[in-house]
Amino acid sequence: MMSRYFETYADWQADPEGFWRKAAEAIDWFEPPKQIFDPAAGVYGRWFPDAVTNTCHNCLDRHVAAGRADQAALIYDSAMTGTKRSYSYAQALGEVEAIAAVMQSLGVEKGDRVIIYMPMVPEAVFTMLACARIGAIHSVVFGGFAAAELATRIDDSSAKLMVTASCGIEPGRIVDYKPLVDAAIDLAKTKPSRVLMLQRAIRPVELVDGRDVDFASAVAEQKARNAHVHCVPMKATDPLYILYTSGTTGQPKGVVRDNGGHMVALAWSMPNIFGVAPGEVYWAASDIGWVVGHSYIVYGPLLNGNTTILYEGKPVGTPDAGAFWRVISEHGVRAMFTAPTAIRAMRREDPEGKLAGNYDLAALRALFLAGERADTESLKWAERILGKPVIDHWWQTETGWPVAADPLGLGLLPVKHGSSSVPMPGYKVEILDDAGHPVERGQLGNIVVKLPLPPGCLATFWNADDRFRKACLDEFPGYYKTADGGFIDEDGYVFIMARTDDIINCAGHRLSTGQMEDVLASHADVAECAVIGVHDDLKGQVPVGLVVLKAGVARETADVSREVVGLVREKIGPVAAFKLAICVKRLPKTRSGKILRGTMQKIADREEWKMPATIEDATVLDEISAALRAHLG
Ligand code: COA
Ligand code: AMP
Repeated sequence: MMSRYFETYADWQADPEGFWRKAAEAIDWFEPPKQIFDPAAGVYGRWFPDAVTNTCHNCLDRHVAAGRADQAALIYDSAMTGTKRSYSYAQALGEVEAIAAVMQSLGVEKGDRVIIYMPMVPEAVFTMLACARIGAIHSVVFGGFAAAELATRIDDSSAKLMVTASCGIEPGRIVDYKPLVDAAIDLAKTKPSRVLMLQRAIRPVELVDGRDVDFASAVAEQKARNAHVHCVPMKATDPLYILYTSGTTGQPKGVVRDNGGHMVALAWSMPNIFGVAPGEVYWAASDIGWVVGHSYIVYGPLLNGNTTILYEGKPVGTPDAGAFWRVISEHGVRAMFTAPTAIRAMRREDPEGKLAGNYDLAALRALFLAGERADTESLKWAERILGKPVIDHWWQTETGWPVAADPLGLGLLPVKHGSSSVPMPGYKVEILDDAGHPVERGQLGNIVVKLPLPPGCLATFWNADDRFRKACLDEFPGYYKTADGGFIDEDGYVFIMARTDDIINCAGHRLSTGQMEDVLASHADVAECAVIGVHDDLKGQVPVGLVVLKAGVARETADVSREVVGLVREKIGPVAAFKLAICVKRLPKTRSGKILRGTMQKIADREEWKMPATIEDATVLDEISAALRAHLG
């Protein structure tokens, strides 16, 4: 089939408002948009400023009304507990209404913030939708974050309610949430007044009197009352959720997503990019704590009337590297999304892909990869095992949906390995040099998107318009800075090469090395430090710390290293995957005192590097090189 990509992109370019007006027809509006875009509103303009809608209505009620009541909305498949459960659209709606009623009974109103700190269980998804139903703004926090990170998010959002579970389950260990929740609430300055606690059979906990409410009994009570909660009318521009993501400082950025634009963009992406029709099964193997989980486990598939899969498990070890193939075949998945790390993990355990032979994968149309750079070898491995297209596509928490992709629904374009293919409608992607001038095709530079950003992208950072401007808009006036570096080739294909800031991507998780440095620097014996992202065959990159001890500290360096590793786990959480801190005498710096992190990273990865002309003392690099080789081999 000839791809309709070029004509679709040209349609958008010719008439952006007309394009999104048409896309908006996929959504039920209580008051349809008269104005499509208001350039004067918000930080860079707002989409559908006069429209009124509700995201939960569009995800559930409208499908029930349109005949999908008995179709599975969500299939929960837990490789961790051996549980499988399916919820029809009607059942999902019942669960959501009951949870919404519980939240209302706890005093949650439109505009209030609710922190959701839960593992991959259906109640987490239903709670997100219940928030959307009553107009509360959810902020989901990934289970691998520590108490201090949770506290930062509670404070920044001044959350009224925390919804959590007694534990998460990781291979070989139970992650007790209760102590983390208690510690976070202790640390937080603005304390949520109530905690709604889902008891998991594997690890029930004691509830705190007067604060904690048992999730299951509260929901059962509302069901017994046959509680119905209507969908609160929301302005399209009202926030649906805040999702915190790593920034260049220790303070995470609260990405604010609206209701209307978000729905329009996701509803457009499901058939056109991911190529799935209503009624089909779609699976994003991610976590609801990340943007992929928000957009493509919860909202995108449900908006499109798909069956979404909620998988609690890993690509390997639960029980083996055939876990993903099992889920695809058992549930008839038509399109799947995961991170390249998962493919690397499977390939490492099952290089020949033999386990795939045990399953019928015929229903699958394509596998989508994003979240980090997809190495060509793993991508080709997946292509060979599946005999289906494997599609690298690129986006960020901030954008909420793909910036560049090979759009399966519009018809695939020729594949170029190493590229995330072409910009999607809504995104005019350009490459600028550091001074803001466009570079030639094929030349590396800063990847930017011409403003306005399309519907679905962040409106701002929570309570921090200025920070949003400074971090994303000021450096290249008229553009959104993606903080990714790369190039566009002669055919318009986008190649993402590396971040231009201090963010690293570890196992598809976005981590700030600056934030880890803050933690290392807080250790009493540390004078200065640097954290760099070093290549890792499985996780893409892992953080490595270089630490200089204060003068006069006569302790065993191994002890300090162990302590700072422990400190990062305690302050940021296991997700930081920070396992190595190397004590060194000095750090390499420029004459103006800037630590040469980039040069150290190149040395660590055995990449070619040039002696920086501005280096203060070149001999330091020999010391660093020896230290890195001693630890990394
Ligand atoms: N709750 C609590 N802890 C968690 C967690 C969660 N939801 N998710 C991860 N962790 C912990 C892990 O148990 C691990 O702890 P450890 O140091 O005690 O071993 C630590 O955080 C680091 O996790 P991770 O980097 O994921 O490494 P891993 O060795 O546990 O797993 C993979 C490796 C490849 C199997 C895993 O990273 C994976 O499935 N990746 C897929 C990528 C993905 O889903 N990305 C999401 C964005 S699309
Ligand atoms: P997150 O906000 O956690 O989704 O992380 C977004 C970042 O992940 C991007 O800014 C990129 O650095 C990286 N990323 C996402 N998708 C890709 C991809 N397909 N190729 C290369 N890097 C990617």
